[in-house]
Amino acid sequence: MTAHTTLRGDVAILIPAAGTGERLGPGPPKALRELAGEPLLVHAVRQVCLAPCVGMIVVAAPPAQVPAVTALLAAVAPVTVVAGGVSRQASVSVALASVPERFDIVLVHDAARALAPPALVDRVVAAVRAGHGAVIPVLPVVDTIKQVGAADLVMGTVDRSVLRAVQTPQGFRRELLAEAHRAAIDDLGRRADHTDDAGLVEKIGHPVHCVPGDVRALKVTHPIDLVVAEALLRAGTLSA
Ligand code: C5P
Repeated sequence: MTAHTTLRGDVAILIPAAGTGERLGPGPPKALRELAGEPLLVHAVRQVCLAPCVGMIVVAAPPAQVPAVTALLAAVAPVTVVAGGVSRQASVSVALASVPERFDIVLVHDAARALAPPALVDRVVAAVRAGHGAVIPVLPVVDTIKQVGAADLVMGTVDRSVLRAVQTPQGFRRELLAEAHRAAIDDLGRRADHTDDAGLVEKIGHPVHCVPGDVRALKVTHPIDLVVAEALLRAGTLSA
């Protein structure tokens, strides 16, 4: 893929990539950590370009890295790079503000889920087009989940059958996402932080629809995730 990649779709995708990635250990910001010789963010942008519905990509970079990220991605695809905020949610808000009104559907992704396949992007977008204002990809939870209190004492076991692990990209009607982000800021300008955008939509009472996720959209968080992601890249099964 080269700088001549043209985005022809009608969907904007926001890629917050301004986190530090402390759980990966010391090193550059997570989005710039290398996976098979290239930064995670390059893989993430390349993957979303494989989905024909994508027409705009906005990356929220660590503020000090905006020039470097702009230069890095110039050779990959036409990408708008903005300076991220102090939290993921703040980074998404800034990125969303740069999306022109003509994009009625906005996806919110994570640079850390760099290998999400295009079929997953398509599935989320199809559900938004089918009439769901907010759509999340989910996977069943495989571990038994327990609530643990003080002194490491188990308080109870959660019914696993009703739990889902949530991935990205999450898909929204642009206006609903913008309304949810506006509502998360109180009169004093304080932000009630959520770990995902669907959480903000739930907060304003709008339904959120689930579609099947994909194990290949794993979130690179700990060093072992880089090993799994490299194996997936080597297997060459990420373009569908
Ligand atoms: O920290 P966590 O792994 O939950 O971050 C999820 C995504 O949000 C990552 O892609 C990260 O780069 C991004 N993020 C951001 N701005 C922040 C914090 C995290 O764009 N201030």
